[in-house]
Amino acid sequence: MLELQAVNVAYGEARALCDISMQVKPGELLCVVGPNGAGKTTLVNTLAGILRAKSGRILMEGRDITRLAPHRFCEAGIALVPEGRRLFAGMTVLENLEIGSLLPSAKAKRRETLEEVLQLFPALKPKLAAPAGELSGGQQQMVAIGRALMARPRLLLLDEPSLGLSPLVVAAMFDAIRKISAGGITIVLVEQNVVMAMRISHRACVLELSRIVAEGDPDELMKRPEIRQAYLGV
Ligand SMILES: Nc1ncnc2c1ncn2[C@@H]1O[C@H](COP(=O)(O)OP(=O)(O)O)[C@@H](O)[C@H]1O
Ligand SMILES: [Mg+2]
Repeated sequence: MLELQAVNVAYGEARALCDISMQVKPGELLCVVGPNGAGKTTLVNTLAGILRAKSGRILMEGRDITRLAPHRFCEAGIALVPEGRRLFAGMTVLENLEIGSLLPSAKAKRRETLEEVLQLFPALKPKLAAPAGELSGGQQQMVAIGRALMARPRLLLLDEPSLGLSPLVVAAMFDAIRKISAGGITIVLVEQNVVMAMRISHRACVLELSRIVAEGDPDELMKRPEIRQAYLGV
């Protein structure tokens, strides 16, 4: 589905991703965990076309997308739920969702996709006409995910979707992500909530200081002493 070959990304002289090589299989739910500043946001922003790789290659469904213009990443089937949600607070929930479906292919199925999004997040139904800025944090995250789904992506990138949400809302959010995955969309999930992310993911990748330091089966990774110490504090 997605392949990175020795990808390097830098902010000026500061390297933020060093020689990242990884693959995401079709239908897979891959979580990327790691401490603050590890490069997780840089990684998903690069996959979304917001940042450019200095070297290396990114292949989506076998096609080299490394040098595509940013807006073409969406056409290539990739959608990002950015860190901090980035909603248009003064616009209604429906308007925010519709912004996700501007491509002709997505626009043609707008109604159908909206139904699916509202089935996944029924709490948004009575809020469609409300300004997005008036919603609770959890509901705003639902809008952010819904907006990305409106593009009908084949690859969904989620950057810290549980950040700042209460435990109950977090559990519902992970449940929704599991459902999106079960629906067949390939997912790269960046999370601070390592335990819950590992629990729903098929595979996990640990990023530290701009490099991948471990990857594999989430259950097996969670058994490794160095991972337990770093992420569970035991
Ligand atoms: N816009 C930016 N300009 C310069 N450095 C940045 C910028 N964004 C992030 N960085 C740096 O790149 C590194 C990786 O950041 P980031 O990808 O946001 O990490 P994470 O999402 O894992 O917390 C950090 O050292 C951070 O300070
Ligand atoms: Mg981040």
